[in-house]
Amino acid sequence: MSTVKLVEVILTAEVYNRFEELTEDDIPKEIRKMFYSKNGISRPLVVKLDMLKSIGSAKHVEETLKLPFVDLNNLTKQVLLTSLPAAAKWFASKGLERIKNNPVLAYYYQNDGFDVSYEEAKKRNLPKHSDKEWLKTVIAELEKNKETAEMLGLVRIYSPEDIKVNFKDVALDEEQLEEIRKIEVAMEEREYLKKIGVIEIGKLLFIGPPGTGKTTTARALSKKLKIPLVEVKLSMITSQYLGETSKNIEKVFEIAKRLNPCILFIDEFDYVAKTRTSDEHAAVKRAVNTLLKSIDEINLVEDGVILIAATNHPSLLDPAVWRRFDKIVEFPEPQEKIRKRILELALKKVDGDYNIDEIVKLTEGFTGSDLKLVVREAVLKALLRGEKKITMDDLLQAVEDVRNRLCLKTSY
Ligand SMILES: Nc1ncnc2c1ncn2[C@@H]1O[C@H](COP(=O)(O)OP(=O)(O)OP(=O)(O)O)[C@@H](O)[C@H]1O
Ligand SMILES: [Mg+2]
Repeated sequence: MSTVKLVEVILTAEVYNRFEELTEDDIPKEIRKMFYSKNGISRPLVVKLDMLKSIGSAKHVEETLKLPFVDLNNLTKQVLLTSLPAAAKWFASKGLERIKNNPVLAYYYQNDGFDVSYEEAKKRNLPKHSDKEWLKTVIAELEKNKETAEMLGLVRIYSPEDIKVNFKDVALDEEQLEEIRKIEVAMEEREYLKKIGVIEIGKLLFIGPPGTGKTTTARALSKKLKIPLVEVKLSMITSQYLGETSKNIEKVFEIAKRLNPCILFIDEFDYVAKTRTSDEHAAVKRAVNTLLKSIDEINLVEDGVILIAATNHPSLLDPAVWRRFDKIVEFPEPQEKIRKRILELALKKVDGDYNIDEIVKLTEGFTGSDLKLVVREAVLKALLRGEKKITMDDLLQAVEDVRNRLCLKTSY
């Protein structure tokens, strides 16, 4: 980090400490990450010499410490500003660009008559729930208590920073995209929706055969919206013990509410409904009822939770369950256009001589995961020959291999 950046860290800490109304979300993400400890971020922010040394070169640290308004406490090794106005003046002379992207500084400079906007800077800065360090501290807090620690055992929690798949790498059709966009704007306009009383929003049911991108879409959405993902499979929380399943369902929804804003992704959603048709056991009925009640009691506008449920067997779902989603999003076997896009994405980094359109025509009925398998097979075939370039023949053979595999699957 350059000297200017090091000064930005010290200045940001100082301004943040002085103005109680500033929140952790106002600290630029990059700077905020330096201040996490086991218990989160504490006020006041303390800048230590070691911290500067870990982010800047020796030369830049030395330069920073020589500035007339910077002081080092030799005993505590804390780096402080001796004059905020002097530091602010120096920093402003280095350009307003940085200030425009730093809400803490924009707040200070805006009040000082500079042409910068705190609101604009805030829009450009990611809030703390997008930080994996933030998620870690929340989880650590929940682990301290026996009851909440138990809840954590039922789910998988991802920080958006840990999700690998990008939204642009998921091939979706117009209808699917539109539903996702609606969720996105609803998330942004929560306050407005609350004010006008539109709260039954943000519950999606993804239906479609295996391998059509339901899980991938939920994960990519978490990354796109920069909010954590709480993932649970209903089969994993179903217990043979009376009442246990109901309790687990309640716990899962409770975790999602505590982590808000987040996406709660419930996979194998038919699991509970399915068991009900085979056996009208009281405990199962109770579990379904708990599920219905939990869905009723959660919404994006008030709780900050987007609920996405997914199933391969929509016909097994209870009509009462169906009704509770504001939108059913279909994930069918992909049409030509989508197959083409999936193949293009999968082959993006693969060298070779091939015609994608031809493969698209031959793969009617293939899902996204089948198509990815085709590409993997073709790459392996080429590697077996000692080549990194794939040929059209590799792809054609791979299509046949995967097709045979699909036939095997259906004949057993
Ligand atoms: N539309 C798509 N765009 C990009 N990749 C896709 C798409 N559909 C499927 N895939 C790829 O196929 C694989 C399986 O997809 P995913 O796990 O999301 O399917 P799913 O619908 O959740 O299946 P299941 O019902 O079995 O859980 C992933 O590697 C994913 O990247
Ligand atoms: Mg899935």
